[in-house]
Amino acid sequence: MTGTKIIALDYEVAENTITNNDLARVMDTSDEWITTRTGIKERKIISGDLTSTDLGIKAAQKVVKRVQKKGFDPKLIDLILVACSAPEDIYPSVSCYIQKALEINCPCFDLRAACTGFIYSLNVAKAFIKSGIYKNILIVATDTTTKYTDWSDRSTCVLFGDGAGSAIICADNSENDDIIALELMTDGSVADYITLKAQRNASPLVEQKKTEIKPFINMKGREVYKFVMQLIPQKLEELLSKAGMTIDDIDYFVPHQSNQRMIDALAQRLKISNDKVISNIEKYGNMSAASIIVALREGIDNNKIKLPAKFLLSAFGAGMTAGNAVIKLDKDI
Ligand code: ACO
Repeated sequence: MTGTKIIALDYEVAENTITNNDLARVMDTSDEWITTRTGIKERKIISGDLTSTDLGIKAAQKVVKRVQKKGFDPKLIDLILVACSAPEDIYPSVSCYIQKALEINCPCFDLRAACTGFIYSLNVAKAFIKSGIYKNILIVATDTTTKYTDWSDRSTCVLFGDGAGSAIICADNSENDDIIALELMTDGSVADYITLKAQRNASPLVEQKKTEIKPFINMKGREVYKFVMQLIPQKLEELLSKAGMTIDDIDYFVPHQSNQRMIDALAQRLKISNDKVISNIEKYGNMSAASIIVALREGIDNNKIKLPAKFLLSAFGAGMTAGNAVIKLDKDI
């Protein structure tokens, strides 16, 4: 059976740093409210006409450059898989634009699982590699959620930031498996907890209801919080036990960077010590699908993460979708 190897990670974040005090100048909020409720101090917001594709291309180019330095020919990439829930176009998919920029001839598609997009992509990549269909997969998780934020809704607009993460996952014939265990979950019965409606049109030849659609994020924050706390801790324990591991076998817990209070509550339930919990939400806010890759790469670059190491990842978002994974990363990532 073919194994999987995560050979590189990289990221790109938006260029503008917006602090809580900057927000407080244009809306009725405060650094104190945002910090105590979310742990966020500042976030990166993308300029003008730039999009999830622009950040995704930069993150993809960086990861490709990284593997080129190790002697890997990027033309060997045989699938580009993009996790993006805030694309600028319904089609073509972001992955097609990234393919064009990289000039790699391979199939491409986007998947939409909101903030859980990276974990869903890991599962898809693993399945394709194990089945022998593709061997070298580029994953790009990119979201510019601030473009779809209702800036008059202070309970959501303070939460988000824009970023993209990239990863290259390859087939490994040595039985090595960097994606050790993984579980995806979806509960569509609570799909209304987080929504982002698309603007649409109807033919003049058919009857149409006159409902105003606001193409902005709408979130029931308290319900999201409860959903996560009721589901995720138990599922993380089940995943570890399925992998024949306990929390003591895990070097680092890297949850989706949604809210520091949620990260702390999950870490407490897992009984994992603080030095093993990776969080960068203070600087970036919630970067949706990109958040876990950025936290991993930045943690490695800042020496917060020492490699080789085993990681417990956990993400959750609109859908409601959720996904947990145990992965390992080698020193030369
Ligand atoms: N500044 C100041 N006051 C605010 C702000 C703000 N930015 N936002 C809301 N308030 C006020 C409200 O108006 C309300 O005032 P009132 O009591 O006078 O009516 C009060 O604060 C409480 O408002 P709530 O919306 O109930 O705020 P809550 O305490 O639930 O905190 C939050 C909101 C931080 C989003 C919280 O619900 C939460 O942590 N939810 C988890 C969900 C989450 O983190 N989601 C991230 C995205 S999920 C994903 O990744 C897709």
